[in-house]
Amino acid sequence: MIVKIEELLKEVEGLQASDMKEVEALRIKFLGKKGAVNELMANFRNVPSEQKKEVGMKLNELKTKAQNKINALKEQFESQEEDFDELDLTRSAYPIKLGTRHPLSIVRNEIIDIFSRLGFCIAEGPEIEDDWHVFSALNFAEDHPARDMQDTFFIESHPDILLRTHTSSVQTRVMEAAQPPIRIICPGRVYRNEAISYRAHCFFHQVEALYVDKNVSFTDLKQVLLLFAKEMFGADTKIRLRPSYFPFTEPSAEMDISCNICGGKGCPFCKHTGWVEILGCGMVDPNVLDANGIDSKIYSGYALGMGIERVTNLKYQVKDLRMFSENDTRFLKEFEAAY
Ligand code: DAH
Repeated sequence: MIVKIEELLKEVEGLQASDMKEVEALRIKFLGKKGAVNELMANFRNVPSEQKKEVGMKLNELKTKAQNKINALKEQFESQEEDFDELDLTRSAYPIKLGTRHPLSIVRNEIIDIFSRLGFCIAEGPEIEDDWHVFSALNFAEDHPARDMQDTFFIESHPDILLRTHTSSVQTRVMEAAQPPIRIICPGRVYRNEAISYRAHCFFHQVEALYVDKNVSFTDLKQVLLLFAKEMFGADTKIRLRPSYFPFTEPSAEMDISCNICGGKGCPFCKHTGWVEILGCGMVDPNVLDANGIDSKIYSGYALGMGIERVTNLKYQVKDLRMFSENDTRFLKEFEAAY
């Protein structure tokens, strides 16, 4: 048997093939089910016990060498095939970098995901809007400061036309076109006339949610808020609602979540309070329902709105808002693994 193995070892060393088919034939001959190595293995039990050790070692050597040789031949042809298939003389000599999703898109998609699991559909509206949809239909008084030139970008020649300051305008677009049940989320870009700094920008992004139906109550709102907070920031997240004021909701509240950076113990991010503000919400003011063609005696609803930049900051601690719109690929690359 030793002699036979020695012969095969020599043969293996000198193996050659001119294409992949021949390599496969050699593999079957040496390493296949009924190949030379397996045949020897099957006969191994007939080897006298004093020779078993030596024969065993030789046999293993043969197996490994045959495997290595055949793999080497295979690789040779594989790399040749690849070279041939992918030869593209117009291609850049530099490695092609893959793009990454923008952090705001990652977070927006996550928010959409959570709300769509609760049955909300996406609704969209125009960024260039009119006073009615952004303010009047949402119960803003004539002299409300948000209409002020300092906050809102107006179109000079058409004082009634403006860049929307919040995605709440999509609420009015949907309500005027549809009757309840209405269950929508509206992600989008909004504009405000602010000096640009690390903590303010003249445009940013919001997601608005609106649910109008019979018997919708504040309890429904609270439940959705809690579920959202836990899904977005982790199962241990707590929420708290503080009374607030918005023209389009009554009662109105702002929601804080337990600071997900320090876990509520207090840190510079939450100004040592353990809580961070994340969104505004409330029961849709009956005036808003009526102004948009929905009978407030039959229907009620809740609404909420949040800034995507704010949620992203909380999740990823981006310290400077301007990073989001500078397209610095070093910043964007940091989110490579986030989706
Ligand atoms: N539109 C508000 C803003 O831009 C956010 C908001 C607050 C939306 C309360 C709502 C709400 O739907 O109920 O600051």
